[in-house]
Amino acid sequence: MKGIILAGGHGTRLHPVTLALSKQLLPVYDKPMIHYPLSVLMLAGITDIQIITAPRDRATFEGLLGDGSSLGLRLSYAQQEHPRGLADAFLVSADHVGDDSVALILGDNIFHGAGFAGLLQSLARDVQGCVLFGHPVRDPERYGVGEVDEFGNLVSLEEKPLKPRSNLAVTGLYYYDNQVLEIARGLRPSERGELEITDVNRVYLEQGRARLVQLGRGFVWLDTGTHDALMQAGQYVQVLHQRQGVRIACLEEIAWRMGYIDQDECFSLGARLAKSPYGQYIMDVAQA
Ligand code: DAU
Repeated sequence: MKGIILAGGHGTRLHPVTLALSKQLLPVYDKPMIHYPLSVLMLAGITDIQIITAPRDRATFEGLLGDGSSLGLRLSYAQQEHPRGLADAFLVSADHVGDDSVALILGDNIFHGAGFAGLLQSLARDVQGCVLFGHPVRDPERYGVGEVDEFGNLVSLEEKPLKPRSNLAVTGLYYYDNQVLEIARGLRPSERGELEITDVNRVYLEQGRARLVQLGRGFVWLDTGTHDALMQAGQYVQVLHQRQGVRIACLEEIAWRMGYIDQDECFSLGARLAKSPYGQYIMDVAQA
């Protein structure tokens, strides 16, 4: 399975912090935002990943993550000239996907929860149709919204409905089989001029091949879309670190635990950052 991280857009809702810097490079406590979605793909077992950026930011992302080889990954980069919608990712990254299945994650989505890695890996094994991940929220009208019947089967999908039929937001992580490329090519822009991911998902729903996996109350799905939400996300990560001593979405630690690099390589990655508590943490983890 291939991975795509969509990290373009103008970040207008976070101006002026995003006037000169991509939203997905902003810090969330101790690391750049993109580390969080990248960690999700790594935990899913996906190592061949393309990062889509706005043209202005591409070099900065490449400077941050390089070709990924030090983490045992294969990272490539592609540019989205304009924010034409989330489903545009499949047009931009068609060559990268090839004839494989694909996981798309939005570069500003943060997930955390016990058992997440196992769930991600088991669902990635044989994707037929699409797999969406739903999470209850208090303000579903801001998201794609899924409605399920009494057996948990997905029955409707709407993008930012004025009157949501449920409180289940469709999060920014999506698994697809290879048909997604063909579906994306056939899409027409929505009223707001975008290629909507919800329209892609609706095609699968009509085929009876869309599944919504509900992430329950034990999972956390954090928003980074406003100044307040961004700060709260940072505080969540900080509390986990200060209370439990864990750093979530630590790429070096995940690369080692997933077997992408060995213990010595993990230690060396920490040693390069040894002056920061983050680097120290990696060295401690690799020595434990
Ligand atoms: O976060 C989950 C939600 O993401 C879903 O529930 C919605 O169904 C989905 O449409 C999307 O809604 P948003 O309102 O959050 O989408 P937004 O336009 O803000 O884009 C999400 C991120 O993707 C944002 O950080 C910028 C990036 N992006 C967006 C577009 C439209 C791109 O890189 N390229 C684009 O063309």
